[in-house]
Amino acid sequence: MNTLLLLLLALLLLLLAGLVRLTYKFAALQKDQHHAMEVGGDRAGQEVLLEKLSYAKGFLYAGIVLVAILMAAVFYLLIEGTVYEGHFREWLNIAVRWMHITFGIAWIGTSFYFVFLENALNRTKNVREELAGNLWAVHGGGFYYLEKYKLAPRAIPEELHWFKYEAYFTWLSGFNLLFVVYYFNAKAFLIDPGVMALTPAATIGIGVASLAAGWLAYDWLCKTRLIYRPLPFALTGFLLCCGFAWFYSQVFSGRAAYIHFGAMLGTLMAGNVFFVIIPSQKAMVRAAKKRLPLDPALGKFAGLRSLHNNYLTLPVLFVMISNHFPSTFGHQHQWAVLMAISLGSAGIKHYLNLREKGQQSVWVMPASVVLLLSVAFYTAPVPKGGQCTEEVAFSQVYPIIQARCQSCHSSRPTDEDWAAPPNGVAYDTPDDIARLADKILLRAVLTETMPPNNKTGITPEEREVLRCWIEQGGEVR
Ligand code: HEC
Repeated sequence: MNTLLLLLLALLLLLLAGLVRLTYKFAALQKDQHHAMEVGGDRAGQEVLLEKLSYAKGFLYAGIVLVAILMAAVFYLLIEGTVYEGHFREWLNIAVRWMHITFGIAWIGTSFYFVFLENALNRTKNVREELAGNLWAVHGGGFYYLEKYKLAPRAIPEELHWFKYEAYFTWLSGFNLLFVVYYFNAKAFLIDPGVMALTPAATIGIGVASLAAGWLAYDWLCKTRLIYRPLPFALTGFLLCCGFAWFYSQVFSGRAAYIHFGAMLGTLMAGNVFFVIIPSQKAMVRAAKKRLPLDPALGKFAGLRSLHNNYLTLPVLFVMISNHFPSTFGHQHQWAVLMAISLGSAGIKHYLNLREKGQQSVWVMPASVVLLLSVAFYTAPVPKGGQCTEEVAFSQVYPIIQARCQSCHSSRPTDEDWAAPPNGVAYDTPDDIARLADKILLRAVLTETMPPNNKTGITPEEREVLRCWIEQGGEVR
């Protein structure tokens, strides 16, 4: 079995090397074509060829990603059940998360940058007839001068920079991260039997299908007449998001519900790039090359989708960091908390956009900040239980931590999902417990987000013992 897997791994490695080599071949071919076009010849034919080349390149990249995923899967089969399994999962997590963040920064960075350009364009002073506007900037020790065309330039330049792989790779790595963190550990992270007792397969199916459903609903909304009326459109979109956030809170654990909401918004953003923005731009380039009249609707709708993406960035970024904040995903009405934070952060983006346009809005920023602050108040812990009348001794606390927490939080966890103590939190000695008492109060008593999905079956009475012990000073006595 192992020899077979090793053989398969070697074959896949060869395939990967071949595919990577092909990308170099493609780049060389493209260069040759550009060169041939410069010296003349059958222009139209060469352009068709170039377009086909760039199309094939997309498939090539997809192939490389796919082979890499296959290799990781085969490697996993090789070490499954050995001591290396947990370690491999951790490094897979590191690699995919790192990629996701890097591509995401590149994507959101360009999104912010181009929306800024659009907002800050000088559209009035000394603008040539064919231009929509221009802009001066200084950055990294250089001066830049940019011009935006109303439609397209008279001739499409040979070298035109596109921005799409940042978006595609952000989505792909994010989708993989869903598997690495949640779907492979469905019982640990995805499913909370207290919310809904689903099987892993059903939960994963719901998760993946919901991403597609989100896109279909949003895309449909964009094709209705509402698209021409920003405020009703935004309101409907917000209500739709509320529906998704609520739905997720009814099927998944708190953390997984948040992540799926973010993944759904991220899918809309990547879908906008893949299904609308890039195809529109391709159609525009094609028309400009053939000197056909341009359909201004193409650019306008692509621009709108791009603007939607811009408003979705801050809510998605919040979801990406939300796992660190149990007062949000652990809240009783976590979906409402999520929606309020999304609205507040989109409001802040709106204020920034207005500012870039030179419009000073009086109320958008304060209203957004007040909304976010009110979420902070709303999620504040509610003092639990009554007065602790009896003195709680550490000897009452220790067995609870041992029975309910140590299977994961020990330097040698016995839980099947954890090879190392999660977040480095280990309750090996009584002193460890006393030192980390504040966090125990937060996670096991106030937010009840530990143990995850109450895997070890801690009882309300036991939570009370922990609370009273910590309120009485949390000392090892
Ligand atoms: C099934 C495994 C498991 C059990 C059992 C478990 N935890 Fe955790 N714990 C985790 C994981 C995974 C994380 C990291 C993810 C997170 O913060 O939600 C974590 C994180 C924490 C943190 C946050 C540490 C930080 O850096 O902020 C605290 C505190 C904590 N657990 C306390 C407890 C307590 C107290 C118990 C017992 C009542 C317990 N846990 C039981 C898996 C477990």
